[in-house]
Amino acid sequence: MKKIKTVGVVGAGTMGAAIAQKFAQEGFTVYLNDREQQYIDKGISGIRSILEEGVERKIFTQEKVENILNNIKGTVNQQDLKACDLIVEAIFEDFNVKCELFKTLDKIVSADTILATNTSSFSVTEMAASVSHPERFVGLHYFYHAAKNRLVEIIPGEKTSPETTKAVYEFSVLSGKDPIYTADAYGFAVNRFFVPWLNESCKMLEEGIGSIAEIDTICMKTFGIGMGPFALMNATGVPIALHAQKTLEHFGPSYKVAKKLEEQVASKQNWDLSGTGEVTISPEKEKAVNDRILGCTLFVCSQILEEKVCTATDLNRGAKIGLRWRFGPIDLMNKYGETEVKRMVNQFAKIYNEPVPNGIKAGNWKMEFVSMDINGSVATITMNRPEDMNALNEEVMGQLDCKFSQADAMPNVKTIIITGSGKAFVAGADIKFFVKNMKAASLNNIVTFTKYGQDVLEKIDKSSKKVVGILNGLALGGGMELALCCDVLLAVPKTKIAFPETGIGIYPGLGGTQRTALRIGKGLAKYLVLTGQMLDAVTAKEIGLIDEIIQPADIFEYISGTKPIPDRKAQVLGANWQAIADFYTNNSYKKIMSGAYENDKIDKEAIDKMAKTMSFKAPIAMKFAEELIEAAKGPSSELDKLVAIFSTKDAMLGLTSIGKKVEYKGE
Ligand SMILES: NC(=O)c1ccc[n+]([C@@H]2O[C@H](COP(=O)([O-])OP(=O)(O)OC[C@H]3O[C@@H](n4cnc5c(N)ncnc54)[C@H](O)[C@@H]3O)[C@@H](O)[C@H]2O)c1
Repeated sequence: MKKIKTVGVVGAGTMGAAIAQKFAQEGFTVYLNDREQQYIDKGISGIRSILEEGVERKIFTQEKVENILNNIKGTVNQQDLKACDLIVEAIFEDFNVKCELFKTLDKIVSADTILATNTSSFSVTEMAASVSHPERFVGLHYFYHAAKNRLVEIIPGEKTSPETTKAVYEFSVLSGKDPIYTADAYGFAVNRFFVPWLNESCKMLEEGIGSIAEIDTICMKTFGIGMGPFALMNATGVPIALHAQKTLEHFGPSYKVAKKLEEQVASKQNWDLSGTGEVTISPEKEKAVNDRILGCTLFVCSQILEEKVCTATDLNRGAKIGLRWRFGPIDLMNKYGETEVKRMVNQFAKIYNEPVPNGIKAGNWKMEFVSMDINGSVATITMNRPEDMNALNEEVMGQLDCKFSQADAMPNVKTIIITGSGKAFVAGADIKFFVKNMKAASLNNIVTFTKYGQDVLEKIDKSSKKVVGILNGLALGGGMELALCCDVLLAVPKTKIAFPETGIGIYPGLGGTQRTALRIGKGLAKYLVLTGQMLDAVTAKEIGLIDEIIQPADIFEYISGTKPIPDRKAQVLGANWQAIADFYTNNSYKKIMSGAYENDKIDKEAIDKMAKTMSFKAPIAMKFAEELIEAAKGPSSELDKLVAIFSTKDAMLGLTSIGKKVEYKGE
């Protein structure tokens, strides 16, 4: 299959420059082409200033900025695009101009170069008719700001080959994107419901259902967003909303452009946002606005599901990642339930005299958070909930159990890979679940979940197949506990590993205190669990926590079975790590923190630093964690102290203050 290494981006405007920036950031060589040098210069200087902002915010070093810029080669000469494996078009939204460009590119590029359009409103299939190889033509729809927003919609046209779709999927992952698949339907998935959401807000204003301030304030709460529809239109340009809605009008009467929106564009003014967030809203008003905006959104989303534009999982993901809605449409459907959703959607459909879509049925709202692919003797299980960093909750654990059991029972499967999608392998357990049950005094739910999680992890640990963990990013707490059940652990260079539990008032409860000690010894397990030290891939390999550092592109080779997977390697600890291992083996955390420790190998400064780090951790959590590691009675021993730890004030404080500095009292 085509491996994409060099990429062309045509159009150095708002989207093209940002797309090129992201590709270059992820290490790809990018040819950035535009009509004239001045547009390229403008695009590149825009990229530079965004990267410089990143230096100020300590995201990039100056050296990294120069490396990224060196990866971008501005060119007005289309012939230079010959070198590209993939070309992404991001020029004006004009069908004929785009087709002309593709006809020209078709004559320049080699027969296996993939051509992609970033169009927002045209048909990929129709545009593909302008090239001689429509099987290597595809839609790649990025979202503003394309260097920061991780969502990309992959849109295969009628003739796009599966190889092309697969190649751009892999490339999207390697270029730091979270891809979703959509059919070649107008508006694809996200704009299809997002733009009517803006338009319907204008209609509510028109009909006096709410003022701008009221509609924005209510929507911010309902969808969990920082800006309401009117504020958003002001930020991205009111005329863009009008243009985008016009392209959707043929879907039916409810999609007709709002008069108020047309008038606002004609006035060349932004919406007046005064009062947003400050207005007092009556419950009746809130209900009226919610009924209408949810009715509209869930009506369109039900159509999307009925027409199979995309899956429920991708629909929800598109909203959460692309639009940064804290609650995606499927989350909202599940929250309100079938009866209430039907009521709101029926009410909405009646206004426009449109049929109620079949997709409204709750059976269509199922989301898949753990996926499985089989390639010959290799089964790959992907923790696939990137919008929530693949955090473990009851549903995810249930799906992992189901997928792993299936793979484990297949006689032809010899190797099971477990990996993650997006930025994380698994960023821990779902904290919300703990807090909800602690507040409701239903700690038995936490015990039941943990016990079930332990059973699933035990199944993975005891499997007779070769189980390989591929860490593709953050592996924190529960993520590392899952990883430790694998026979072999591989990690990409940007992997970060830690046990943050004692810093949030609890201890690892899915085998973390036990399997870490089994893998790297009690001393280093104590060091990791008590200090919460974040490790990079190199350090994790030095201490034997992972076996091999691999390149991101290798992941797909292992998954497809084309590259043999390395075996577990015994690591010999370096002198520094041996000293830390011995120090924690010989000393309790209390001795270390009080200064009454035994030590002949580590300098005092380093010990003081570790003691200081531990002084920010919850004392009861540290005590239990240490006892569990020392006793080494197996993962199920972690269940014994679960109620005790989740009953502490420290646990409540820690779990409700994630990311904030707190002072634990040991209560
Ligand atoms: N702006 C958004 O939020 C957004 C989001 C998703 C998709 N899109 C789509 O992305 C595409 C680009 O949008 P934009 O907002 O970046 O536009 P833009 O006007 O900012 O940039 C377009 C660039 O293309 C260049 N260009 C035009 N014709 C060209 C040609 N034949 N060869 C080379 N360069 C050419 C122009 O000089 C300009 O620099 C459009 O199809 C748009 O629908 C935009």
